[in-house]
Amino acid sequence: MRISLKSSVLPFILFGLGVTFAFSSCLKEKEGSAVIASEVTYENTIKGLLSSRGCEGCHASQSPILTDYTKVKDNFAVVLASIKHEAGTSNMPKSGNKMPDAEIQAFIDWEAGSFKEN
Ligand code: HEC
Repeated sequence: MRISLKSSVLPFILFGLGVTFAFSSCLKEKEGSAVIASEVTYENTIKGLLSSRGCEGCHASQSPILTDYTKVKDNFAVVLASIKHEAGTSNMPKSGNKMPDAEIQAFIDWEAGSFKEN
């Protein structure tokens, strides 16, 4: 009796674990997209995107430098063109996927709000 109960419950436990695993891997994929504040500033959004998309990693030494507020602001036009994959600029992030539209929109919103730092 005991053994037959166990063997009938086991498939349900395994199924439950499978479902849990499937959901947690979905959540992991979502971690890639950064939080975008309703009012975009360099500190609350732009800096985080430049970091999570790998820009800061390469552009700590590679021109244009993108690790501080003033430099990102000064190079904004080419930065925006590069993440929008516009013709005439190199597509960024280099050898990575194009950023999601919501993240590109955050850069546009940052400009519209006159490049707030904080
Ligand atoms: C793997 C390294 C790497 C990453 C990641 C990277 N870049 Fe670049 N970036 C480069 C290199 C190298 C160049 C210069 C050579 C070229 O244009 O390909 C460059 C050039 C640029 C330029 C100048 C483009 C032009 O046409 O003058 C801009 C702006 C830029 N990157 C912005 C970014 C932004 C924004 C990100 C993140 C979304 C990013 N990069 C991610 C390596 C990188």
